[in-house]
Amino acid sequence: MTSYLKFNQLEKEEVLNLRNLWNDELGFIFPITEELFNRNTYLTNGFLLDCSYVAMFDNIPVGFIISKVWNTTKVDGLYEKTGWISLIYVSKKYRKQGIGSKLISLVESDFKDLGISKINLGKDYQNFFPGLPKDLKEHLDWFTKRGYTALYETNDLVNLNLNQNLLNLEFKSDNKYDIRLCTKDDFPELIRFMEKNFPGRWLVELKDYIKNNGTGSEFVVCVNNKKRICGFCKIGSYKTPIELISFSLTWRHRFLRLGGIGPLGVDSDFRRQNIAYNMIVFSVNYLKSIGSNALIIDWTNLISFYRKFGFEIWKTYIYIEKNLN
Ligand SMILES: CC(C)(COP(=O)(O)OP(=O)(O)OC[C@H]1O[C@@H](n2cnc3c(N)ncnc32)[C@H](O)[C@@H]1OP(=O)(O)O)[C@@H](O)C(=O)NCCC(=O)NCCS
Repeated sequence: MTSYLKFNQLEKEEVLNLRNLWNDELGFIFPITEELFNRNTYLTNGFLLDCSYVAMFDNIPVGFIISKVWNTTKVDGLYEKTGWISLIYVSKKYRKQGIGSKLISLVESDFKDLGISKINLGKDYQNFFPGLPKDLKEHLDWFTKRGYTALYETNDLVNLNLNQNLLNLEFKSDNKYDIRLCTKDDFPELIRFMEKNFPGRWLVELKDYIKNNGTGSEFVVCVNNKKRICGFCKIGSYKTPIELISFSLTWRHRFLRLGGIGPLGVDSDFRRQNIAYNMIVFSVNYLKSIGSNALIIDWTNLISFYRKFGFEIWKTYIYIEKNLN
């Protein structure tokens, strides 16, 4: 007999242990550690404890679904009617019995009650995935039969040969800017830069980074001679505290000493001057110098740009969404 409980009917530890259902089958590709699961759920404001569910068979958990809305910092009408399915999973032995369908319909019904009109699979704030991983493509039909649409694809890129093929990347010669690690003193200027150029999610992520006691060393900045920031690049390493990492490091436990790069952004008034190129040179060389032996750049379609630095596609994800109206 299968029953369905809301996460808030379970102890926190029982919820955190649900990751083991996923890990039993998929942990060798996408290992979900307790700290990652906790960061993406309990430590994320939009996580809905009362609209996330576990399927129990004879009192044993056999599947779960995690749902989120956007209720951290409000961003000008953005995401107000969007709901996210962060993760859905049913153990192999219990599939094709209607459990996945029930889990997704429970969340869709809650979303409707909340006035949500669009659902994304993944892409949530502090997400596991930006869409359905292509490794799990055999499940795409399951979603489309339930009214979900596959849209575009995006990629995580990897450089696995940092020590061999990137001994010393060179800056482009016309570099007239100061490219360096950010410090706490730069935060007001970095916030101004983000408000002007990337006032959506990246600004919220920066503010959360500062709230979580980030020191600045996870940001590379490009500064001009008037002390204005004209570009930034988020970075991190295998040692970066979980609350300060970006998606590039979500799967760092797959690697020995992974570094991460991204997001990357340049002020529109300063484009076409190799600022992005030179910030990547700085980031790659810096992450290598602190011991990274592989690097990931997450959620990007700039494949030929990053190929110049030795990156290739590691994982591809399919954007999936459903309109509830
Ligand atoms: C996708 C997933 C959640 C579906 O779970 P599930 O419990 O097998 O889902 P259901 O049982 O509701 O549906 C599976 C199929 O079994 C069929 N089915 C349901 N009950 C059935 C029954 N009693 N007898 C025969 N068939 C049945 C459904 O109609 C469905 O068929 P369809 O794919 O042709 O539509 C599951 O395959 C999974 O965990 N996949 C891996 C994780 C994943 O990809 N997650 C997405 C990334 S976040």
